[in-house]
Amino acid sequence: MTLRNILIHPDPRLKKITAPVAVFNDDLRRIADDMLETMYDAPGIGLAAPQIAVMSRLLVMDCVKEENATPQPMVLINPEIIWSSDETSVYDEGCLSIPDQYAEVERPASVKVKWTDLDGKEVQETFDGLWSTCVQHEIDHLDGKLFIDYLKPLRRQMITRKMQKLKREMARS
Ligand code: NI
Repeated sequence: MTLRNILIHPDPRLKKITAPVAVFNDDLRRIADDMLETMYDAPGIGLAAPQIAVMSRLLVMDCVKEENATPQPMVLINPEIIWSSDETSVYDEGCLSIPDQYAEVERPASVKVKWTDLDGKEVQETFDGLWSTCVQHEIDHLDGKLFIDYLKPLRRQMITRKMQKLKREMARS
């Protein structure tokens, strides 16, 4: 497994709509493994393929947070939300592509998602709580949408300016 470089906002690749995965092979398995390793290393609870410059509809997540709990790595290929609850919930969201910035985002509290697993099998599951927020946040990435796109323009611009400054500092060091 290889740690991949995580793109930092602003980056045009984070604004693109990604292409469906059509081929289920060892390359795809390797990308998913790398994404999980990169996510755990960060550390984060979710990572979408465009964040490592792979422009395909693929995401990984693991929202198990308790110290000694068994990890629950998930790989979702071509995920699609097929139902959302009317009830909403608010989470203080962050993103590995927008380090150290957090903001409250309101989303449906539960969603039912359909996706394909690494063996090409179709799976459906309903997510609640943090898992629901996470899967919606990651699917947004596949459509070129970031959590800051839900914020008021002024707040979004402030965060973007901070990230531009961070990228300049990273480029210098
Ligand atoms: Ni994110």
